Amino acid sequence: MNVSIFDTADEAAAALASRVARALTERPHIVLALPTGRTPVPTYAGLRRLHAAGTADFSRATTFNLDEFAGVEASHPGSFRTFMERHLFTGVNLNSGRIHFLNGAAADLDAECDRYEAEIEAAGGIDLLLLGIGGNGHIGFNEPADELVARTHRVRLADSTTRDNAALFGGDPARVPREALSMGMGTILKAGALVLMATGERKAKCIERTINGPLTPRLPASFLQLHRSVELYLDQAAASLL
Ligand code: PGA
Repeated sequence: MNVSIFDTADEAAAALASRVARALTERPHIVLALPTGRTPVPTYAGLRRLHAAGTADFSRATTFNLDEFAGVEASHPGSFRTFMERHLFTGVNLNSGRIHFLNGAAADLDAECDRYEAEIEAAGGIDLLLLGIGGNGHIGFNEPADELVARTHRVRLADSTTRDNAALFGGDPARVPREALSMGMGTILKAGALVLMATGERKAKCIERTINGPLTPRLPASFLQLHRSVELYLDQAAASLL
């Protein structure tokens, strides 16, 4: 794994935004996979700024988000789609026809997961997949478990994950959906290149285990060790146990 450590979270975010802008220049038709969460917010702000400055052109890019809550319409204020509209999509020149999202409100959620896998395949696969990491080591919504699922699938969210996402639902963990749809570990590991960003001391233990620990479904991020192109963008706090 290629680990870059920055003094602050803002510096890590700025470096990652530049990394993505470079990828857009080198490969205008790039297929990106995108995360939500607090961590990518400053990276998305950086990309909006780079776009405004004329150095990040999304016009030919395609995006797939990693996950979405089940039972939630795209237009719901707590949906990841709404999050992405607010933090990235409305500030860059993505073609709306090339923005792909899991529909958490689909009548048949298993069929929706199959549809998403087929769409990723039809787009030629994911070139560059950006990731955060949950405080419990989840990536996407692949939660710690006895076994991991390879393909896009329905997940039952860990209690810690519903607490972490309460801010999207009026601060009340009880209002966070108990289920979500997520790219699977195989979907993630099939991407051409992976970039994981983590900031803050809360992530330090998972980051240390992700890099140095055994492969275990109890720490889904540990499976990133199997991929040949993984970059980690960390601040000092997240890297403090390395
Ligand atoms: P966070 O979430 O950035 O809000 O910590 C990360 C994640 O759950 O992937």
